[in-house]
Amino acid sequence: MASEKPLVAVTCTAPVNIAVIKYWGKRDEELILPINSSLSVTLHQDQLKTTTTAAISKDFTEDRIWLNGREEDVGQPRLQACLREIRRLARKRRSAGDEDPLPLSLSYKVHVASVNNFPTAAGLASSAAGYACLAYTLAQVYGVEGDLSEVARRGSGSACRSLYGGFVEWQMGQRADGKDSVARQVAPESHWPELRVLILVVSAEKKLTGSTVGMQTSVETSPLLRFRAEALVPARMAEMARCVMERDFQAFGQLTMKDSNQFHATCLDTFPPISYLNDTSRRIIHLVHRFNAHHGQTKVAYTFDAGPNAVIFTLDDTMAEFVAAVRHSFPLESNGDKCPASRSRFLKGLPVRPALLSDELKAALGMEPTPGGIKYIIATQVRPGTQPSAWHGAGAGARHAKSSLHPCLSGKPTC
Ligand code: DP6
Repeated sequence: MASEKPLVAVTCTAPVNIAVIKYWGKRDEELILPINSSLSVTLHQDQLKTTTTAAISKDFTEDRIWLNGREEDVGQPRLQACLREIRRLARKRRSAGDEDPLPLSLSYKVHVASVNNFPTAAGLASSAAGYACLAYTLAQVYGVEGDLSEVARRGSGSACRSLYGGFVEWQMGQRADGKDSVARQVAPESHWPELRVLILVVSAEKKLTGSTVGMQTSVETSPLLRFRAEALVPARMAEMARCVMERDFQAFGQLTMKDSNQFHATCLDTFPPISYLNDTSRRIIHLVHRFNAHHGQTKVAYTFDAGPNAVIFTLDDTMAEFVAAVRHSFPLESNGDKCPASRSRFLKGLPVRPALLSDELKAALGMEPTPGGIKYIIATQVRPGTQPSAWHGAGAGARHAKSSLHPCLSGKPTC
């Protein structure tokens, strides 16, 4: 066995994913097993990502975690489930006699620091990126290899899809122990390079009903949800995989919108009802359908998760015109459109060239502009999944490694 090291730390990043066939409802609350399979698109980390550093050291006296600079309760059941699972896998690996990449005692405590570069809990899938990153970073620091679906899933169901890039399905599985409830890549990010994603941020506030509680109530009260899961989703999964494989945007866009609408219909079928969409969300839906009707084909598609923000899919040749249609329908409040700084704050991420709207399209949109309805837009695209960004092994070179760590993880018992 190699010599014992005082501290080992790893930093990894993970992306957000957006489901085009939605996960809503669990068959096992403890193991986080879904009542239906789901399919998602992984977004580019330049615009939306979680960065997590995990360190283990013999000097740490307890497990601790900081989220966006604030210490959180490490005793939360989901966090504990991830930690237990990763330590179990690490012990299994050691007892199997595999070469040990990490000569540190498994009884050492871990410190974790995680930051998002986007608003947390605002319907932008922050828990998916957060738990995918936690699972992956812990796996690196504890020397665990193989599929991490189970570890990520125990934190948040949708997190297992953020482990992979491109187009990803989470197979619901049949087994009671959840061993076959895993994520897998359907196609890599390079498969459909023209696909673009626009996030229309309507509100960056925390949602009123979280996904976990919302889907629990839906499972208990919505007959539509059960019908959807059993009778409709299996065929939708197959059709969505076909759309992706054949890069059939028309069918991809239509099914994405239908599935989003059906998910929100199950929310309304829940008792008491849950409504995640607001007036601006409904105006965006109207805008997309008017835009498509004007062009005589599906050129843009929307999907909404558990919040009012819209995620729009389109192709690169349509992005500029659609952004212009959004600006026209949702101008900045108080003359902001004339100020270059406000204009650039409104559109973040990938550059989008300015486009002029034809009078015919303006008339076809047929909407009274709603100033300030959309706070800002993030333009992005499809990209790879969770990845390591730095490895800090104390020992030789430890001084350099430690100096680049998050202050919470500097090897001292307190932050
Ligand atoms: C609407 O994965 O956040 O975004 O497993 O309880 O943590 P928990 O729920 P979560 O639910 C995501 C729901 C959704 C649809 C989806 O991403 O598939």
